[in-house]
Amino acid sequence: MADLLQRLQIRLKSLPDGLQAHIYRVRDVAQELAARHGIDPDRAELGALAHDVCRAIPGEDLLKMSADLGVPVTDLDRDFPILLHGPVGAELLRKEDDLTDHSIFEAVRWHSTAHASLDDLGKLVFLADKLDPQKAAIYSYQAKLHDMALESLDLALLEFLSREMAARIEKGGTVHPASVDARNSLVLKLKD
Ligand SMILES: [Fe+2]
Ligand SMILES: [Fe+2]
Repeated sequence: MADLLQRLQIRLKSLPDGLQAHIYRVRDVAQELAARHGIDPDRAELGALAHDVCRAIPGEDLLKMSADLGVPVTDLDRDFPILLHGPVGAELLRKEDDLTDHSIFEAVRWHSTAHASLDDLGKLVFLADKLDPQKAAIYSYQAKLHDMALESLDLALLEFLSREMAARIEKGGTVHPASVDARNSLVLKLKD
């Protein structure tokens, strides 16, 4: 894992400055949430540092890389290929940087849409990405989401998915099936 951290740090240096700054802010939030929830801080850091390694790659290139790396592509991904930066990043790190930790792999893979199978580390990375303080303008309820995430990763993730999915539907947009599944599984889990 020390090896993966070194490789990630080298990879991050080649990213645009703004993206690097985002990634390190996400790392800080991830470590705050990890401390609160008893999650391994080193793995939280790795997940955060890894999550956006492919965020600066144009959509057309992500589609080509998906084909090369064997990443499945749905109609929704083709319509909005930037969604592939998580799955492509995870697969690239697995093939090139020896990312063998399944939980970190899944956290990177699903950080844009969420997924019903996400474990606590995956939920933490997903939420830390949205809780970057610079995204407060995008998510007006971010302060509330931050408080919720400190209390319960499940409740915070459900809150985020419910709000964002409702907003997309309201605008006549699509909702990714992985997000729908993730939300349904949280509703069922939290019902009792
Ligand atoms: Fe991302
Ligand atoms: Fe991000």
